[in-house]
Order: sequence, then C-alpha cells, then structure tokens
Amino acid sequence: MSTVAALIDGKAVVPIEGESILQAARNAGIDITTLCYDSRVEPSASCRLCLVKVKGRGLPVASCAQEIRPGMEIITRDSELESWRKAILGLVLSENPAGECRKCSEIGPCELHKLAKEYGVDGHFPGATSGQILDDPNPFIVRDYGQCIYCYRCTRVCGELEQAHAIVPMGRGFRTGIATAFDGGLLDSPCTFCGQCIQTCPTGALMDKKMLGKARAEEVNKVRTICPFCGTGCGINLHVAGGKVIDVTPDWKAAVNQGSLCIKGQFGMDFVHSPDRLTRPLIRKDGSFTEAPWEEAYDLIAGKFRKIKEESGPDAFAFFSSARSTSESNYLMQKFARAVVGTNNIDNCART
Ligand code: SF4
Ligand code: SF4
Ligand code: SF4
Ligand code: FES
Repeated sequence: MSTVAALIDGKAVVPIEGESILQAARNAGIDITTLCYDSRVEPSASCRLCLVKVKGRGLPVASCAQEIRPGMEIITRDSELESWRKAILGLVLSENPAGECRKCSEIGPCELHKLAKEYGVDGHFPGATSGQILDDPNPFIVRDYGQCIYCYRCTRVCGELEQAHAIVPMGRGFRTGIATAFDGGLLDSPCTFCGQCIQTCPTGALMDKKMLGKARAEEVNKVRTICPFCGTGCGINLHVAGGKVIDVTPDWKAAVNQGSLCIKGQFGMDFVHSPDRLTRPLIRKDGSFTEAPWEEAYDLIAGKFRKIKEESGPDAFAFFSSARSTSESNYLMQKFARAVVGTNNIDNCART
C-alpha cells in the first residue's frame, strides 16, 4: 500500500495496489455512475458512464478499469462529465425507451431507467434497433434481448462467478446478442438456473418469470432471512406481497454468498404456498391414505415406536430432521431422539 495519497474530488485517499479508481472512490463514499459494472467480476468498461478526468491526461478514463495510482488527481463529476453521461444515456435509451420495459411496468424500475429518470434523459436518436425477445421455454427466466444494452454483466457473472459459461456474447453491431452454445434455450445449455444473470442485469432484458405482474416494487415487503434449503446458509430477501412469498432475491450484504444463490434458494420457494403440502395427518387404511385426527396419528406412531424399541432396541431408530423447520423444532427432535428414544442416531439435512 502506498502512503502517497491520490485526490478524488479533492478528497485524499491512499491507493491500494490493484484497486480501481471506482473502487477507491466508492470506498471513500464518492459514488460514480455505472451501468456495466458488477464488483464481483472483472470490469468490461463498455458503458463508459463511469468516465472520470485525471489531471495530466488528455482524455477521460473509465474509472472501473483504471487502477488508481499515488499522486493522481481525479474529478468524478463536473458539468462536462455529466453532459457526456447524458449523451451516452440518450444513445442507450434510443434503443430501450422506458415505455417498453416490462421490468419497469410489471416489477419495478430497472437500473437503466432509474438512471434515465435521475439524469432527465430519454431516447432521442431514432434509427435501427437490435435484439428481440427469445421464445425460451425454461420455467424461470424471460430473455427479452430487445431490452439488452450489451453490458455483458450476465455473461461475466455466468462465466467468472457461477463458472457455468452457459451464455456468451455473440455477433457484431446490430446483430450483437447473448446466446447459449448453438443459440438454443437455457434448458439445453450448462445453465444451473442460479438466477445470477437476472440479478445483475440492469435492464428488463432478463427477468424472473414468476415475478412478472405479481406486484410492483412499492407493494412488496422485503424480509431479510436465510435460505432454508442447505447448511451453506445463504442470505436471501423474501419478497412478500398480499401475505404471500412471491419471489426471492439474494442478500448482497450476506458474507456467506455475497449475492450468489443456487437454483433452490433462487427459484425453489414456491413450496411455501404449495397446495400439495400436508396439513392433516394421513394414515394408510386398506391401502390408501385417509385423513385422521392428530390424536389417532400420535397414538399409532407411539405404539409402533414402543414395539420397535422393545423388539430391536433404541439404535434401530435413526432420526433425520429438516433445515426447513425452526431451530427450536430441530432442538426438540434431537432431544426426542436422545432423551426419549435413547439413540444418538440423529442428523439434519443442513449438515452438507
Ligand atoms: S441462471 Fe446462472 S447459470 Fe444460468 S445463464 Fe444465468 S448466470 Fe448462467
Ligand atoms: S442481458 Fe442484461 S446483463 Fe446481459 S448484456 Fe444484456 S443488459 Fe447486460
Ligand atoms: S440451497 Fe443454495 S441458496 Fe440455499 S443455502 Fe444452500 S447453496 Fe445457498
Ligand atoms: S461502469 Fe465503467 S465503463 Fe461501465
């Protein structure tokens, strides 16, 4: 680490080797506008919104891709930089006007159109457009490349972070696209349906199918919690609207997963309201399951447990409890196994 400071908007920062101007600025509480940047992957420096001026350089530099050096004097915001950002946004928006974005109209404002509003910009360069919606029959992800701005956050996250390499940039110019190998559907690709591409996409190009039309962002209450499916314990936000869990997004601040999830955490929460969940005991009578009162079910279980213990001893039992139950329920389960039945054969599906 250098002890010679750099100046960002007049604020002294001590450069760390390998750190970009953008990272140093954000660490110092100075925000720089970005669109193609995701801190978890290598920068692509494609949107040019993060341009800053460095004293002594003739041209502005992309702060996401330029390493900060001792002695640099950097300006992140002045009227000229802001006018360039407006012009760039105007170009991007000419292909992606706010009125055509399904994410904005059916879920909540996307990053691009939020920025457009902030800068007071709309698309004003009419002409040819690129991309179109793909009829991809996968159950989770809408791929509307008519809204794509080719920032490549999705392909970098898919390759570098998820290591799936399911989607890659394809083509040139107005034929540029995001495609799987042989340009097929995600179900025929190495996609793991981690949902990371949806989460990083700053536009309505990639959307969670289940979320469309369910509730607007302002109607959603986000509940921060832990994914119940396995022992990794990823941080998630449950999106609750009308008393129902309608979706999941990763908790970006959770140290365990830092915004990543797997298919179960991302898309597997519909079990919560599934009509197939058991709500009454079922006892097999004459070969078919029949609803029964709780007392009858408990009597039957207790009788069978006693018989097995008498005939084969307590270690004939093995108990397996669920990570989808509460900690208290899991505690009671091990207590029941050890203190009531008398065996240490107790395990939990979270111990993976
Ligand atoms: S869901 Fe995950 S694996 Fe599939 S394309 Fe998106 S990032 Fe890649
Ligand atoms: S699909 Fe989204 S994340 Fe991927 S390149 Fe297009 S705009 Fe960027
Ligand atoms: S099931 Fe997936 S999302 Fe859930 S905690 Fe485990 S790894 Fe994380
Ligand atoms: S965020 Fe740096 S070029 Fe896009």
